[in-house]
Amino acid sequence: MADISLRNVSKRFKSVAAVDGLSLEIADGEFTVLLGPTGAGKTTTLRIVAGLEQPDQGEVWIDGRNARGLEPASRDVTFVFQQYSLYPHLSVFDNLAFPLRSPARRVAEPEIKRRVEEIASLLRIAHKLTNKSTQLSGGEMQRVAIGRALVRRPSVYLMDEPLSSLDAKLRGDLRLELKRIQQDLGATILYVTHDQIEAMTMANRIGVIDKGRLIQVGSPRQIYEDPDSVYVAQRFGQPQINLLPAGLLPNGALPRGAVTVGARTEHLELRKDKGGRALVEWVEHLGDQNHLHLRLGEHAITTLTPPDTPFKSGDQVAVGLAKPLYFDAQGQRLRSA
Ligand SMILES: Nc1ncnc2c1ncn2[C@@H]1O[C@H](COP(=O)(O)OP(=O)(O)O)[C@@H](O)[C@H]1O
Ligand SMILES: [Mg+2]
Repeated sequence: MADISLRNVSKRFKSVAAVDGLSLEIADGEFTVLLGPTGAGKTTTLRIVAGLEQPDQGEVWIDGRNARGLEPASRDVTFVFQQYSLYPHLSVFDNLAFPLRSPARRVAEPEIKRRVEEIASLLRIAHKLTNKSTQLSGGEMQRVAIGRALVRRPSVYLMDEPLSSLDAKLRGDLRLELKRIQQDLGATILYVTHDQIEAMTMANRIGVIDKGRLIQVGSPRQIYEDPDSVYVAQRFGQPQINLLPAGLLPNGALPRGAVTVGARTEHLELRKDKGGRALVEWVEHLGDQNHLHLRLGEHAITTLTPPDTPFKSGDQVAVGLAKPLYFDAQGQRLRSA
Protein backbone atom coordinates (compact mmCIF):
# COMPACT_ATOMS: atom_id res chain seq x y z
CA MET A 1 0.00 0.00 0.00
CA ALA A 2 1.02 3.62 -0.36
CA ASP A 3 0.26 7.19 0.53
CA ILE A 4 -0.93 9.83 -1.95
CA SER A 5 -0.10 13.50 -1.91
CA LEU A 6 -1.85 16.06 -4.09
CA ARG A 7 0.06 19.34 -4.03
CA ASN A 8 -1.67 22.45 -5.27
CA VAL A 9 -3.15 20.62 -8.27
CA SER A 10 -5.10 22.61 -10.87
CA LYS A 11 -6.71 21.63 -14.14
CA ARG A 12 -8.74 23.83 -16.50
CA PHE A 13 -10.92 22.85 -19.40
CA LYS A 14 -11.19 26.07 -21.44
CA SER A 15 -13.05 28.47 -19.14
CA VAL A 16 -13.83 25.86 -16.45
CA ALA A 17 -11.52 25.42 -13.48
CA ALA A 18 -12.29 21.73 -12.94
CA VAL A 19 -9.70 21.39 -10.18
CA ASP A 20 -8.45 24.55 -8.51
CA GLY A 21 -5.39 24.54 -6.26
CA LEU A 22 -6.27 21.27 -4.55
CA SER A 23 -3.92 19.94 -1.86
CA LEU A 24 -4.66 16.73 0.00
CA GLU A 25 -2.61 14.15 1.89
CA ILE A 26 -3.91 10.59 2.04
CA ALA A 27 -2.05 8.35 4.46
CA ASP A 28 -1.13 4.75 3.77
CA GLY A 29 -4.14 2.56 4.52
CA GLU A 30 -6.54 5.46 4.80
CA PHE A 31 -10.02 5.58 3.26
CA THR A 32 -10.50 9.16 2.06
CA VAL A 33 -13.75 10.32 0.52
CA LEU A 34 -14.11 13.45 -1.59
CA LEU A 35 -17.70 14.63 -1.31
CA GLY A 36 -19.15 17.14 -3.74
CA PRO A 37 -22.00 17.79 -6.16
CA THR A 38 -21.93 17.00 -9.87
CA GLY A 39 -19.34 19.12 -11.64
CA ALA A 40 -17.28 19.69 -8.47
CA GLY A 41 -14.15 18.18 -10.05
CA LYS A 42 -14.22 14.73 -8.43
CA THR A 43 -13.71 12.63 -11.54
CA THR A 44 -11.04 14.99 -12.87
CA THR A 45 -9.15 14.71 -9.57
CA LEU A 46 -9.19 10.90 -9.75
CA ARG A 47 -8.12 10.95 -13.40
CA ILE A 48 -5.17 13.16 -12.52
CA VAL A 49 -4.07 10.77 -9.76
CA ALA A 50 -4.45 7.85 -12.18
CA GLY A 51 -2.39 9.64 -14.83
CA LEU A 52 -5.26 9.70 -17.33
CA GLU A 53 -5.21 13.49 -17.22
CA GLN A 54 -2.23 15.84 -16.79
CA PRO A 55 -2.57 18.71 -14.30
CA ASP A 56 -1.83 22.23 -15.58
CA GLN A 57 -0.18 22.94 -12.25
CA GLY A 58 0.84 21.11 -9.14
CA GLU A 59 2.14 17.64 -8.40
CA VAL A 60 0.87 14.19 -7.52
CA TRP A 61 3.06 12.00 -5.34
CA ILE A 62 2.32 8.31 -4.88
CA ASP A 63 4.26 6.22 -2.40
CA GLY A 64 6.86 8.95 -1.96
CA ARG A 65 7.51 9.36 -5.70
CA ASN A 66 6.58 12.27 -7.93
CA ALA A 67 4.22 10.73 -10.50
CA ARG A 68 4.97 13.31 -13.18
CA GLY A 69 5.66 11.60 -16.47
CA LEU A 70 4.60 8.19 -15.15
CA GLU A 71 2.19 6.40 -17.47
CA PRO A 72 -1.09 5.19 -15.88
CA ALA A 73 0.14 1.59 -16.12
CA SER A 74 3.29 2.45 -14.16
CA ARG A 75 1.44 4.13 -11.31
CA ASP A 76 0.22 0.97 -9.60
CA VAL A 77 -3.25 2.41 -9.09
CA THR A 78 -6.56 0.88 -10.04
CA PHE A 79 -9.70 2.74 -11.02
CA VAL A 80 -13.31 1.64 -10.42
CA PHE A 81 -15.41 3.68 -12.81
CA GLN A 82 -18.90 5.00 -12.23
CA GLN A 83 -20.16 3.10 -15.26
CA TYR A 84 -18.88 -0.42 -14.81
CA SER A 85 -18.14 -2.45 -17.87
CA LEU A 86 -17.62 -6.20 -17.76
CA TYR A 87 -16.67 -8.49 -20.63
CA PRO A 88 -20.09 -9.99 -21.43
CA HIS A 89 -18.75 -13.09 -23.17
CA LEU A 90 -16.51 -14.03 -20.22
CA SER A 91 -17.46 -15.80 -17.02
CA VAL A 92 -17.29 -14.04 -13.68
CA PHE A 93 -14.07 -15.96 -12.96
CA ASP A 94 -12.45 -14.81 -16.21
CA ASN A 95 -13.63 -11.23 -15.69
CA LEU A 96 -11.97 -11.22 -12.28
CA ALA A 97 -8.85 -12.93 -13.60
CA PHE A 98 -8.51 -10.57 -16.56
CA PRO A 99 -6.27 -7.93 -14.92
CA LEU A 100 -3.93 -10.68 -13.67
CA ARG A 101 -3.61 -12.29 -17.08
CA SER A 102 -2.24 -9.22 -18.81
CA PRO A 103 1.09 -10.14 -20.43
CA ALA A 104 2.90 -7.51 -18.37
CA ARG A 105 1.91 -9.18 -15.13
CA ARG A 106 2.55 -12.84 -15.81
CA VAL A 107 0.84 -14.23 -12.76
CA ALA A 108 0.83 -18.06 -12.72
CA GLU A 109 -2.59 -19.72 -13.14
CA PRO A 110 -2.71 -21.37 -9.68
CA GLU A 111 -1.99 -17.99 -8.10
CA ILE A 112 -4.68 -16.39 -10.29
CA LYS A 113 -7.16 -19.01 -9.12
CA ARG A 114 -6.25 -18.44 -5.50
CA ARG A 115 -6.63 -14.65 -5.71
CA VAL A 116 -9.85 -14.73 -7.74
CA GLU A 117 -11.43 -17.12 -5.25
CA GLU A 118 -10.28 -15.02 -2.31
CA ILE A 119 -11.71 -11.80 -3.77
CA ALA A 120 -14.93 -13.51 -4.88
CA SER A 121 -15.42 -14.76 -1.37
CA LEU A 122 -14.72 -11.31 0.13
CA LEU A 123 -17.34 -9.87 -2.20
CA ARG A 124 -19.72 -12.78 -1.61
CA ILE A 125 -19.92 -13.78 -5.27
CA ALA A 126 -17.97 -17.05 -4.95
CA HIS A 127 -21.08 -19.03 -5.97
CA LYS A 128 -21.32 -17.05 -9.22
CA LEU A 129 -17.82 -17.64 -10.58
CA THR A 130 -18.98 -19.85 -13.47
CA ASN A 131 -21.84 -17.54 -14.47
CA LYS A 132 -21.51 -15.44 -17.59
CA SER A 133 -21.30 -11.83 -16.44
CA THR A 134 -24.60 -11.17 -18.22
CA GLN A 135 -26.30 -13.67 -15.88
CA LEU A 136 -25.91 -11.41 -12.86
CA SER A 137 -28.01 -8.81 -11.10
CA GLY A 138 -26.87 -5.18 -11.19
CA GLY A 139 -25.45 -5.46 -7.71
CA GLU A 140 -23.51 -8.59 -8.56
CA MET A 141 -22.11 -6.97 -11.72
CA GLN A 142 -20.90 -4.05 -9.67
CA ARG A 143 -19.28 -6.43 -7.20
CA VAL A 144 -17.42 -8.05 -10.07
CA ALA A 145 -16.31 -4.61 -11.30
CA ILE A 146 -15.03 -3.78 -7.80
CA GLY A 147 -13.47 -7.24 -7.56
CA ARG A 148 -11.52 -6.64 -10.75
CA ALA A 149 -9.95 -3.64 -9.06
CA LEU A 150 -9.26 -5.49 -5.81
CA VAL A 151 -7.73 -8.59 -7.33
CA ARG A 152 -4.64 -6.79 -8.56
CA ARG A 153 -3.41 -5.58 -5.17
CA PRO A 154 -2.32 -2.17 -6.38
CA SER A 155 -0.85 0.45 -4.05
CA VAL A 156 -3.84 2.72 -4.40
CA TYR A 157 -7.52 2.26 -5.25
CA LEU A 158 -9.42 5.07 -6.95
CA MET A 159 -13.20 4.74 -6.91
CA ASP A 160 -15.56 7.03 -8.81
CA GLU A 161 -19.07 6.81 -7.34
CA PRO A 162 -19.03 3.02 -7.71
CA LEU A 163 -22.33 2.53 -5.89
CA SER A 164 -24.37 5.32 -7.45
CA SER A 165 -26.12 3.16 -10.03
CA LEU A 166 -27.38 0.66 -7.43
CA ASP A 167 -30.66 0.62 -5.54
CA ALA A 168 -30.72 1.76 -1.91
CA LYS A 169 -30.59 -1.71 -0.33
CA LEU A 170 -27.56 -2.80 -2.37
CA ARG A 171 -25.82 0.50 -1.80
CA GLY A 172 -26.21 -0.06 1.93
CA ASP A 173 -24.87 -3.63 1.73
CA LEU A 174 -21.90 -2.74 -0.47
CA ARG A 175 -21.02 0.27 1.68
CA LEU A 176 -20.51 -2.04 4.61
CA GLU A 177 -18.65 -4.61 2.53
CA LEU A 178 -16.31 -2.09 0.95
CA LYS A 179 -15.42 -0.73 4.36
CA ARG A 180 -14.81 -4.24 5.71
CA ILE A 181 -12.66 -5.20 2.70
CA GLN A 182 -10.68 -1.97 2.96
CA GLN A 183 -9.91 -2.76 6.58
CA ASP A 184 -9.05 -6.39 5.84
CA LEU A 185 -6.66 -5.42 3.03
CA GLY A 186 -5.35 -2.26 4.72
CA ALA A 187 -6.03 -0.57 1.40
CA THR A 188 -5.39 3.09 0.56
CA ILE A 189 -8.58 4.31 -1.11
CA LEU A 190 -9.53 7.62 -2.65
CA TYR A 191 -13.28 7.41 -3.18
CA VAL A 192 -15.45 10.17 -4.62
CA THR A 193 -19.19 10.56 -4.24
CA HIS A 194 -22.03 13.05 -3.95
CA ASP A 195 -23.68 10.88 -1.26
CA GLN A 196 -23.25 12.17 2.31
CA ILE A 197 -24.15 8.79 3.83
CA GLU A 198 -21.37 7.04 1.90
CA ALA A 199 -18.92 9.70 3.02
CA MET A 200 -20.02 9.55 6.66
CA THR A 201 -20.07 5.76 6.92
CA MET A 202 -16.94 4.74 5.00
CA ALA A 203 -14.40 7.53 5.31
CA ASN A 204 -11.55 7.85 7.76
CA ARG A 205 -11.40 11.40 6.42
CA ILE A 206 -13.77 13.43 4.28
CA GLY A 207 -12.75 16.24 1.94
CA VAL A 208 -15.64 18.50 0.97
CA ILE A 209 -15.09 19.76 -2.56
CA ASP A 210 -16.96 22.39 -4.56
CA LYS A 211 -16.06 24.05 -7.88
CA GLY A 212 -12.70 22.32 -7.88
CA ARG A 213 -11.70 23.64 -4.47
CA LEU A 214 -11.29 21.69 -1.27
CA ILE A 215 -13.40 23.45 1.31
CA GLN A 216 -12.81 21.43 4.48
CA VAL A 217 -11.08 18.20 5.42
CA GLY A 218 -11.65 16.21 8.58
CA SER A 219 -12.96 13.03 10.15
CA PRO A 220 -16.67 12.42 9.55
CA ARG A 221 -17.35 13.46 13.11
CA GLN A 222 -15.30 16.68 12.86
CA ILE A 223 -16.97 17.66 9.62
CA TYR A 224 -20.42 17.02 11.03
CA GLU A 225 -19.96 18.57 14.46
CA ASP A 226 -17.55 21.34 13.63
CA PRO A 227 -18.18 22.63 10.09
CA ASP A 228 -16.25 25.72 8.96
CA SER A 229 -19.13 27.15 6.95
CA VAL A 230 -22.85 27.04 6.20
CA TYR A 231 -21.95 25.26 2.96
CA VAL A 232 -20.33 22.34 4.79
CA ALA A 233 -23.00 22.27 7.52
CA GLN A 234 -25.69 21.89 4.87
CA ARG A 235 -23.92 18.96 3.23
CA PHE A 236 -24.37 16.70 6.29
CA GLY A 237 -27.31 15.58 8.35
CA GLN A 238 -30.87 14.50 7.63
CA PRO A 239 -33.02 16.53 7.86
CA GLN A 240 -30.81 19.37 6.68
CA ILE A 241 -29.56 21.84 9.30
CA ASN A 242 -32.07 24.64 10.05
CA LEU A 243 -30.72 28.11 9.26
CA LEU A 244 -32.43 30.83 11.24
CA PRO A 245 -31.75 34.52 11.75
CA ALA A 246 -29.65 35.14 14.86
CA GLY A 247 -31.90 36.42 17.62
CA LEU A 248 -35.05 34.69 16.38
CA LEU A 249 -34.95 32.22 19.25
CA PRO A 250 -34.04 33.08 22.83
CA ASN A 251 -30.38 32.37 23.42
CA GLY A 252 -27.49 33.62 25.53
CA ALA A 253 -24.96 36.11 24.20
CA LEU A 254 -24.31 35.77 20.47
CA PRO A 255 -20.76 35.80 19.15
CA ARG A 256 -19.90 39.14 17.57
CA GLY A 257 -20.89 39.26 13.92
CA ALA A 258 -23.36 36.34 14.17
CA VAL A 259 -26.04 36.65 11.49
CA THR A 260 -27.26 33.08 11.16
CA VAL A 261 -27.89 30.33 13.69
CA GLY A 262 -27.55 26.75 12.46
CA ALA A 263 -29.67 24.30 14.45
CA ARG A 264 -29.80 20.57 13.95
CA THR A 265 -32.11 18.31 15.95
CA GLU A 266 -29.52 18.02 18.70
CA HIS A 267 -29.38 21.81 19.03
CA LEU A 268 -33.13 22.23 19.56
CA GLU A 269 -35.14 21.84 22.75
CA LEU A 270 -38.84 21.42 22.12
CA ARG A 271 -41.60 21.51 24.68
CA LYS A 272 -45.37 21.42 24.23
CA ASP A 273 -46.60 24.77 25.45
CA LYS A 274 -49.93 26.45 24.69
CA GLY A 275 -48.11 29.80 24.68
CA GLY A 276 -45.24 28.49 22.49
CA ARG A 277 -44.39 30.49 19.38
CA ALA A 278 -43.96 27.55 17.04
CA LEU A 279 -46.72 25.45 15.49
CA VAL A 280 -46.43 21.79 14.50
CA GLU A 281 -47.49 21.78 10.85
CA TRP A 282 -47.15 18.07 10.31
CA VAL A 283 -45.47 14.93 11.56
CA GLU A 284 -43.89 12.83 8.83
CA HIS A 285 -43.79 9.20 9.92
CA LEU A 286 -40.72 7.32 8.70
CA GLY A 287 -41.27 4.27 10.91
CA ASP A 288 -38.10 4.19 12.97
CA GLN A 289 -38.34 7.96 13.49
CA ASN A 290 -40.40 11.01 12.56
CA HIS A 291 -39.64 14.29 10.89
CA LEU A 292 -41.35 17.06 12.80
CA HIS A 293 -42.16 20.11 10.66
CA LEU A 294 -42.62 23.31 12.65
CA ARG A 295 -43.49 26.83 11.62
CA LEU A 296 -42.30 29.85 13.53
CA GLY A 297 -43.65 32.94 11.84
CA GLU A 298 -42.18 32.91 8.33
CA HIS A 299 -39.55 30.28 9.24
CA ALA A 300 -39.77 26.54 8.81
CA ILE A 301 -37.92 24.25 11.24
CA THR A 302 -37.53 20.50 10.70
CA THR A 303 -36.26 18.08 13.33
CA LEU A 304 -36.19 14.38 14.10
CA THR A 305 -38.33 12.92 16.85
CA PRO A 306 -38.64 9.33 18.09
CA PRO A 307 -41.47 7.11 16.77
CA ASP A 308 -43.45 7.58 19.97
CA THR A 309 -43.28 11.37 19.67
CA PRO A 310 -45.77 13.26 21.83
CA PHE A 311 -46.13 15.96 19.14
CA LYS A 312 -48.98 16.11 16.65
CA SER A 313 -50.03 18.64 14.07
CA GLY A 314 -51.66 21.71 15.53
CA ASP A 315 -49.62 21.62 18.76
CA GLN A 316 -48.05 24.86 19.96
CA VAL A 317 -44.41 24.34 20.89
CA ALA A 318 -41.81 26.36 22.76
CA VAL A 319 -38.44 26.13 20.99
CA GLY A 320 -35.10 26.64 22.71
CA LEU A 321 -31.52 26.40 21.49
CA ALA A 322 -28.74 24.26 22.94
CA LYS A 323 -25.23 25.14 21.74
CA PRO A 324 -26.16 25.75 18.10
CA LEU A 325 -23.69 26.77 15.36
CA TYR A 326 -23.19 30.43 14.49
CA PHE A 327 -22.27 31.91 11.12
CA ASP A 328 -21.36 35.39 9.92
CA ALA A 329 -22.83 37.29 6.98
CA GLN A 330 -20.49 35.44 4.58
CA GLY A 331 -21.61 32.06 5.90
CA GLN A 332 -18.33 31.44 7.75
CA ARG A 333 -18.52 29.72 11.11
CA LEU A 334 -18.07 31.76 14.27
CA ARG A 335 -16.73 29.66 17.10
CA SER A 336 -18.06 31.49 20.10
CA ALA A 337 -16.16 32.27 23.26
N1 LIG B 1 -12.82 16.52 -20.83
C1 LIG B 1 -13.46 17.61 -20.43
N2 LIG B 1 -13.65 18.65 -21.27
C2 LIG B 1 -14.28 19.80 -20.88
N3 LIG B 1 -14.77 20.00 -19.65
C3 LIG B 1 -14.64 18.99 -18.76
C4 LIG B 1 -13.98 17.76 -19.10
N4 LIG B 1 -14.00 16.95 -18.00
C5 LIG B 1 -14.63 17.65 -17.03
N5 LIG B 1 -15.02 18.87 -17.48
C6 LIG B 1 -15.69 19.90 -16.67
O1 LIG B 1 -14.97 20.08 -15.47
C7 LIG B 1 -15.84 20.21 -14.36
C8 LIG B 1 -15.58 19.10 -13.35
O2 LIG B 1 -15.98 17.86 -13.92
P1 LIG B 1 -15.85 16.47 -13.18
O3 LIG B 1 -14.46 16.33 -12.68
O4 LIG B 1 -16.36 15.42 -14.10
O5 LIG B 1 -16.84 16.67 -11.95
P2 LIG B 1 -17.58 15.60 -11.03
O6 LIG B 1 -16.94 14.27 -11.24
O7 LIG B 1 -17.41 16.14 -9.64
O8 LIG B 1 -19.02 15.62 -11.44
C9 LIG B 1 -17.24 20.20 -14.93
O9 LIG B 1 -17.64 21.53 -15.12
C10 LIG B 1 -17.08 19.49 -16.24
O10 LIG B 1 -18.06 19.89 -17.16
MG1 LIG C 1 -17.81 12.47 -11.81
